[in-house]
Amino acid sequence: MTKIATLEINGNKYEFPIIEGTQNEFGIDIKTLRGVTGGVTTLDPGFKNTGSCESAITFLDGEKGILRYRGYSIEELAEKADFLEVAYLLIFGELPTAVQLEKFDADIKEELHVDEDMKNILDGFPKSAHPMGVLSSLTNALIAFNPGSVDVASDDAMYRAIVKIMGKFPVLAAWTMRKRKGLPLDYGDSTLGYVENLHKMMFARPNRVYTKNKIVNDALDKLLILHADHEQNCSTSTVRIVGSSHAGLFASLSAGISALWGPLHGGANQAVIEMLEAIKADGGDTAKYIAKAKDKNDPFRLMGFGHRVYKNFDPRAKIIKVAAEEVLADLGMEDPVLDIAKGLAKVALEDEYFVKRKLYPNVDFYSGIIYRALGIPTEMFTVMFALGRLPGWIAQWREMRQRKEPIGRPRQIYIGEGYRPFVSVEKR
Ligand code: SDX
Repeated sequence: MTKIATLEINGNKYEFPIIEGTQNEFGIDIKTLRGVTGGVTTLDPGFKNTGSCESAITFLDGEKGILRYRGYSIEELAEKADFLEVAYLLIFGELPTAVQLEKFDADIKEELHVDEDMKNILDGFPKSAHPMGVLSSLTNALIAFNPGSVDVASDDAMYRAIVKIMGKFPVLAAWTMRKRKGLPLDYGDSTLGYVENLHKMMFARPNRVYTKNKIVNDALDKLLILHADHEQNCSTSTVRIVGSSHAGLFASLSAGISALWGPLHGGANQAVIEMLEAIKADGGDTAKYIAKAKDKNDPFRLMGFGHRVYKNFDPRAKIIKVAAEEVLADLGMEDPVLDIAKGLAKVALEDEYFVKRKLYPNVDFYSGIIYRALGIPTEMFTVMFALGRLPGWIAQWREMRQRKEPIGRPRQIYIGEGYRPFVSVEKR
């Protein structure tokens, strides 16, 4: 029996079906609203109360701190799966068999090369360019060298575009880092695993033999899994809406990278470390920064805290916090900034301002501490987020195209001037 929502406007009643998801979520289906009411729309800045689509990829329960990819819990995946398995799961909907995983890996490895002329585009950037801007540009530029990746009408064309970007994206990401460091570009090694190869392309030195480090690789693999998808967040919604115009996958991903760059979104992981370093330089005075975060007249926010959906602990933050302590211990390192982060979180989680607003550490609060321990420069942190989120963006884009979603085109409530006749410049 379909549940019904009744809306009364100016004495007229309108009924709308209530859509029920598989996990006790309910949404009022207002597809007919403007038509039946003669033009009434809804208004919801930031889409805080608005579902943009039905999706079978990722489930979040913000109140209970639950995150599942295709029904599997983030805790189990982070512990038992590897990143390529999770990428396959997100994109194709099932955990791969050994044969499927081997073929996916091999098809991706066939795409590890990037056209040499792409280097000319990379060389056009100053060393000081932010890696997220470079990565977004290079991702878009890939289209020119892979024109067949735009029209993905067939399943085979879609698959080819997917393995192409899964293979080439880590190369581009590693190149953005090496460019800043003045290092020769590295082409990777197809005998290595996906994440091992990413690390090699980022860190191999021309005059040294590259040696794998299991601790580092496992930490990186876990971080990429934890960032792999997060339902309709800002950058994923960007990828879906750009793709809804039938712009190609690479163009849609390039737009998603730009959305992720923002400090309120993926750029927060860089902003967190910069904030913690500032607190450290300021003598570790966490109380001062908590006060700034609470002061409405101060634009300062506690970066890495708060979340649109999680009104409880972000399950990823819990896992990353433990992983940060393990990685530092395994590598025999100490990072005073981790102690500052833990001290800051303790104070905030006991402060009425944060408790009342249900502000908890999010995925970005501790991740930078691990990236730092792995030798990744701060300005590359959000690129690492993008590397993790790549399969999620691909999965969401593929779902949107397969479900033949309409082009995204929200309405508005106009609050500007009514009609007024043109006035020539002599009379103004
Ligand atoms: C990511 O959506 C996703 O799933 C994103 C993500 C993913 O995996 O894709 O999880 C990744 O982007 C995580 C979030 C990273 N961003 C940050 O850490 C930046 C700091 N956080 C805030 O800017 C904020 O919490 C947001 C942007 C994350 C959420 O913003 P909302 O949902 O629009 O909440 P809001 O701004 O309306 O805040 C509600 C209240 C406000 O106070 P009042 O006006 O009610 O008095 O909480 C306050 C805010 O001022 N508040 C904060 C705060 N976050 C919210 N106050 C101080 N410090 C903060 N960090």
